[in-house]
Amino acid sequence: MIVGSTGQIGSELTMELRKRYGNESVVAGYITGAEPKGELKESGPAALVDVTDPNTIEAAVKQHSIDTIYNMAALLSVVAENNPQLAWKIGIDGLWNILEVARQCGCAVFTPSSIGSFGADTPHIHTPQDTLQHPRTIYGVSKVTTELLSDYYFHRYGVDTRSVRFPGIISNVTLPGGGTTDYAVEIYYAAVRGERFVCPIKEGTYMDMMYMPDALDAAIRLMEADPARLIHRNAFNVTAMSFAPEQIYASIKKHLPDFEMVYDIDPLKEEIAESWPDCMDDTCARQEWDWNPKYDLETMTADMLEKLKARLVEG
Ligand code: SER
Repeated sequence: MIVGSTGQIGSELTMELRKRYGNESVVAGYITGAEPKGELKESGPAALVDVTDPNTIEAAVKQHSIDTIYNMAALLSVVAENNPQLAWKIGIDGLWNILEVARQCGCAVFTPSSIGSFGADTPHIHTPQDTLQHPRTIYGVSKVTTELLSDYYFHRYGVDTRSVRFPGIISNVTLPGGGTTDYAVEIYYAAVRGERFVCPIKEGTYMDMMYMPDALDAAIRLMEADPARLIHRNAFNVTAMSFAPEQIYASIKKHLPDFEMVYDIDPLKEEIAESWPDCMDDTCARQEWDWNPKYDLETMTADMLEKLKARLVEG
């Protein structure tokens, strides 16, 4: 079951899991106001699952005999900064509710962490798996807590919790909502629409990124991994590429030579971005469950532009 199945990652994760395990085996959890539509709705079962209401979680898990919960409900970093209490309520109280149901019903739980779980005093280059985590955003604070609480439930109750620290995720399907890394998605939409892109992040600000097919593979591969090999659990560094705005711009310009980008720095986004790693070391994920991303900046750009062009211009 995917909690938050209509969100940025949840929407594509639901479809990928259905492809792999069969449509009927994967339940799309949604909240009122964010119901599944189109292919997501037509292709398989759905259930109302509000992480802030434990009864809805338990009812869905029991009704559909759920063995694994992908808990994708969260606010992204910038939105969370504007509503810290809601970010905590969804991210932590919600996780607590999920873990309690998982403990009682014997479910495994995946709850993504993020590059946002690191802070200014974390080593920014080749950020180690085990290192300082002192974020100053509520998003980061809730992600560190997510990691600790998930490990707590594993050690204390034996709940099979696993997680990755996702970098910025880039996709051509569902738009992210209010993250610091959103610029790396929006830039492709501007390019394909023939618009000038106004970049909110400063030249030279590096962040880890990943194309959606690799992000889906990371989540599923980790949940399928042999538990005997896992030295870590919550949460693994995973990355596929690291770039600064001028590099993603240059990679798009190779395909669209007239594309223009200017800078208009958003101080909140820039401050957050500068506190995050430039590039993480994901050796542990590679060693413990064979993490092996397929896309780099150039192959992602080619695919993004092709898919978006087909949808936005030709479709
Ligand atoms: N994409 C997220 C954000 O920008 C980072 O995990 O908030």
